[in-house]
Amino acid sequence: MAPIVSISNLSKTYASGFEALKGVSLDIEEGEILALLGPNGAGKTTLISIICGIVNATSGKVTVGGRDVVRDFRDTRSMIGLVPQELTTDAFETVWNTVSFSRGLHGKKPDPAHIEKVLKDLSLWNKKDSTLRELSGGMKRRVLIAKALSHEPRVLFLDEPTAGVDVSLRKSMWDVVERLRASGVTIILTTHYIEEAEEIADRIAVINGGEILLVEEKDALMAKLGRKQLRVDLAHPLERIPESLSSYNLTLDEEGQCLIYDYDTSAERTGITALLAALAETGIRLRDLSTRQSSLEDIFVEIVEAGR
Ligand SMILES: Nc1ncnc2c1ncn2[C@@H]1O[C@H](COP(=O)(O)OP(=O)(O)OP(=O)(O)O)[C@@H](O)[C@H]1O
Ligand SMILES: [Mg+2]
Repeated sequence: MAPIVSISNLSKTYASGFEALKGVSLDIEEGEILALLGPNGAGKTTLISIICGIVNATSGKVTVGGRDVVRDFRDTRSMIGLVPQELTTDAFETVWNTVSFSRGLHGKKPDPAHIEKVLKDLSLWNKKDSTLRELSGGMKRRVLIAKALSHEPRVLFLDEPTAGVDVSLRKSMWDVVERLRASGVTIILTTHYIEEAEEIADRIAVINGGEILLVEEKDALMAKLGRKQLRVDLAHPLERIPESLSSYNLTLDEEGQCLIYDYDTSAERTGITALLAALAETGIRLRDLSTRQSSLEDIFVEIVEAGR
């Protein structure tokens, strides 16, 4: 199946001479949730703005639904919902009017039933007659999402959707995203919160310095780069790691209470059984054992460091 969004060799140099994107290529499949993960200034918003036709690329090409985003701007833009990073709303308009008007801007016929559903989904129904300046920051962010969904887009971009959003709203936003995905909407979200990508994405693209460093299925990425740690809590503290254990990749914590063993989850043998036998042989008594899987945070640091 042809990708819903296809980005090829995209570059952007701003008027200041700053090169924000350097030859980015990326295909996004219909129905997936892709997380675009990268630090401040990586080029995430620039990339999204080009796809949405808000910023012009210096070179390269983007298609949405097989149409060119520059040549067929109106068609591609009507397929896209964008929740921008910056809160920009018309303070004196009501929620209902703002969201309904947004649908009209994308050339869709009025559909009050759809607007009602969107507002209910986002728990904004009881605020429909409030003006935007009466709303809290989190509610304004929900209005931005409602606007982006007003014209039933096939592709939804969420640029840092959870910046300044509390835990319960974050949870309800993810519920909305899940429901949208179930209805076939493709979702691209940018974030620098790794847990967020880990929680919700099917695929993860890591961007840094205007370049895509990697694109991978989340599960495959975790399996490939995922290291596990075995923590061995000791019954009696050690001063140093005994000679007899020097062949293992062990570290001792500062208090000498815990041995940490790093192992590769994809290796044929983890070496845990042998390690435990060696510990027993050395006369070390254990109090507890636990394992910890490396998070995307660890993986991200590893990738960015390797790219330096
Ligand atoms: N209009 C502009 N003129 C010049 N430089 C710009 C402009 N817009 C963005 N940049 C620069 O391009 C780079 C990428 O910016 P962009 O907003 O795409 O990053 P981002 O990944 O979205 O960052 P953040 O996580 O902070 O939102 C930054 O160094 C930024 O300063
Ligand atoms: Mg940004």
